[in-house]
Amino acid sequence: METDAAKAGGVGTPASPARALAVDTPIAKPVPKRSVLTRRLFLLGGFWSGLGLVVVALVGSPLNFMWIRNLRGFGGPIAVTPDRIPEPGADPKKIVEGKFWLINLEAGTTPNGEETAGGLLALYQKCPHLGCTVPFNAGFDFQGRKGWFRCPCHNSTYTKEGGVLVFGPAPRPMDVFPIEVNEDGSLTVSTGRDFEGTGSPANPTRAVLNEPGNTTPEASA
Ligand code: FES
Repeated sequence: METDAAKAGGVGTPASPARALAVDTPIAKPVPKRSVLTRRLFLLGGFWSGLGLVVVALVGSPLNFMWIRNLRGFGGPIAVTPDRIPEPGADPKKIVEGKFWLINLEAGTTPNGEETAGGLLALYQKCPHLGCTVPFNAGFDFQGRKGWFRCPCHNSTYTKEGGVLVFGPAPRPMDVFPIEVNEDGSLTVSTGRDFEGTGSPANPTRAVLNEPGNTTPEASA
């Protein structure tokens, strides 16, 4: 005979299969995805993209014209602004990025006896002997006058007025880089190791007059 407790499904009484199936177990539901691209975000994106395009159009075109092309470091053309050109007869100026000395000769006869029409000459700083960097020494006194290119490695000594060799083991004078004088008074100097071997006692005759359109003459054979 079934007791009251059994009828109520109480403690100590196994639940019937029909009752176990009726238990309502909660089922986990995925969190609904929120839309990533809201209308507000879409409008903001469109606004900033449009503004960016306008800025590129306004700034990009002038920059395109102002961008300096084909001017590189040593090994390519080097631009020298007029304020970096020494006065005629002044001490040479080092153009660091081009690894050369820029000199401006006075017309006439150099102290070493060469005739020159005067003008600009770019001398490669590399010593033709074993490649040391040749400084200009304004205070070095030699052959009764001051101001020489003097190699610190083996004392090859070159004139201030053209890099002509007067002493030391170097096989030739300092090498010459070609110069072109531009319309605005600036210079374009071609640099690089391709010009090794161009130095000669005729260096002072290869100076280029500082007038637009002039270029360094080829070395005479
Ligand atoms: S490297 Fe200049 S004199 Fe030897």
